[in-house]
Amino acid sequence: MKRVKEHMVRTIKWLWMALLCGLCGAYAGDHNLQPAQALHAYGQECAACHLAYPPALLPAESWQRIMGGLARHYGADASLDAAQVQTIGQWLHSQAGTYKKVRAAPEQDRITRSDWFVREHRKVAPAVWQLPSVKSPAQCAACHTRAEQGQFGERELRSPAGMNGGFR
Ligand code: HEC
Ligand code: HEC
Repeated sequence: MKRVKEHMVRTIKWLWMALLCGLCGAYAGDHNLQPAQALHAYGQECAACHLAYPPALLPAESWQRIMGGLARHYGADASLDAAQVQTIGQWLHSQAGTYKKVRAAPEQDRITRSDWFVREHRKVAPAVWQLPSVKSPAQCAACHTRAEQGQFGERELRSPAGMNGGFR
C-alpha cells in the first residue's frame, strides 16, 4: 500500500511539473519583449549594425553608459547628435528592465554577458557563435527569427546556416 501511495505522489509531482513547464514555455513563446510604444528613432539609429535590442534586457544604468559612449561603442563609432542621444536615451531609460534577472548591470553592459543569457544559451556549442552566418552572440536574429518583434520562444528558433544537427 505504501509503495502505491509513493508512486502516486511521484506521478502527481510529475504531472504538475509537466503542466508548469508547458505553461512557462507558452508564456515565453508568446511573450513579446519589445515595448508596446516603439520609438522610431531607436529603430532608425540603433538597428543598422545589430538588432534594436529590447530595452527590457538591460537595466537603465547600462543604457545610460551605452548612450554616453557612442563614439567608442564596442569598437564601432555609433555617434549621434546630442538631441538624438537625449531622445533615445530617455526612452531607453523609461523602458529599461527592472525585474530581478536584469537588475544588475552585466559585464561591459552586454546583454550577452548577463547570467540569464549565458544560462539560456548553454545548449549553443561554442563553435556555433563563430559561424559566418552568426558572427557573434549579439546577432540574435541569426537564430531567433522573430527577434525584431521581441519574440524569443522555442517556436521562433532556427538553426543557423552551417550548423550541423540541432542545438545540444
Ligand atoms: C555602426 C554600427 C553600430 C551602431 C549604429 C550601433 N551599434 Fe550597438 N554595437 C555595435 C557593435 C559592433 C557591437 C558589438 C557586437 C558584437 O560583440 O558582436 C554592438 C553592441 C551593442 C550592445 C551589446 C550587445 C551584447 O553583446 O549584448 C548594445 C546593448 C548596443 N550595441 C546598443 C546600441 C544602441 C542603443 C545603439 C543606438 C544608439 C547602437 N547600439 C548602435 C555596433 C553598432
Ligand atoms: C546561435 C543561435 C542563437 C543566437 C545568436 C541567440 N540565441 Fe537566444 N537562444 C538560442 C537557443 C538555442 C535558445 C534555447 C532555446 C530553448 O532551450 O528552448 C535560446 C534562448 C533564448 C531566450 C530564452 C527563450 C525562452 O523561451 O525562454 C532568450 C530570451 C534569448 N535566447 C534571447 C536572445 C537574445 C536577446 C540574443 C541576442 C543578443 C540571442 N538570444 C542570440 C539560440 C540563439
